[in-house]
Amino acid sequence: MEFKTNNMSKTALYIVTGSSKGIGKALVQQLLKDPNNQVIGVARSQEQLKNPRFKGLAMDLSNLQEILKNVDAMFPSGDFGKIALVNNAGWIGEIEHLGKMSPESIYKIFALNTISPTILMNAFIEKYAGLKEAERLIVNISSGAAKKAIDGWACYSSSKAAINLLSEAAALEAELDESGIRVFSVAPGVVDTAMQSDIRAADKKSFSLLDKFVGLKENKLLSTPDHSASKLIALMEEPERFKGVLQDVREY
Ligand SMILES: NC(=O)c1ccc[n+]([C@@H]2O[C@H](COP(=O)([O-])OP(=O)(O)OC[C@H]3O[C@@H](n4cnc5c(N)ncnc54)[C@H](OP(=O)(O)O)[C@@H]3O)[C@@H](O)[C@H]2O)c1
Repeated sequence: MEFKTNNMSKTALYIVTGSSKGIGKALVQQLLKDPNNQVIGVARSQEQLKNPRFKGLAMDLSNLQEILKNVDAMFPSGDFGKIALVNNAGWIGEIEHLGKMSPESIYKIFALNTISPTILMNAFIEKYAGLKEAERLIVNISSGAAKKAIDGWACYSSSKAAINLLSEAAALEAELDESGIRVFSVAPGVVDTAMQSDIRAADKKSFSLLDKFVGLKENKLLSTPDHSASKLIALMEEPERFKGVLQDVREY
């Protein structure tokens, strides 16, 4: 995959997973407003935006073979001034207590939420670590749930806790290797997306916080995908302002 780069003002390349819905879709739409930005979007479903600066890749990120088949297309070469990987695709998974979950859904949630972002971080660092003239960023989308135990979300919370520590370790390695790559793990807030609909559809016996999440929607306390996207863009525009790997959009 090749993009034409704009030499007048260096092109920024954003690789966004989970670009078809929710926060990822809002992020892509906002990024494309800047004519210097190119975006590669990844999701299973893919509407091909009529924008020459957008390339969509349709793939299932929980499937290793599909990632391996597409990984070169996700990380193209080019004269970019900035390259950012946003590992945003995620799934709340089967909301159920351990002991009642299907092995397939346990496998899939970690494959999508933890293993695929790790493989993509690894590929991004391998490809771009030497490209010191470009600003390079990895932004992993985590969750406030990464820091607490929630019944029914054992796999989801721990898949995001792993992302936090992976991000911190990647940032430490980047420092030791002097690669100049910045790494963040960002909780995006509680956002009105399909994921929240899945949460409200849970059975109260499997998820004791059901009423709280129903109440957040009823009382219009969910934030919007656009709000989270603009916070993520603020971080990616001035990453040097943000101290620490773990960030929460509700705190800046
Ligand atoms: N919404 C919240 O309140 C909230 C709170 C904390 C953290 N987060 C995190 O924020 C991120 C975005 O969530 P969201 O609320 O925007 O969710 P969403 O509306 O459900 O969107 C999820 C995105 O991930 C993609 N995706 C799901 N499974 C995939 C797969 N197997 N392969 C490739 N792509 C896949 C979906 O596209 P396809 O279906 O087309 O594949 C979609 O574009 C997630 O990491 C989530 O954990 C959300």
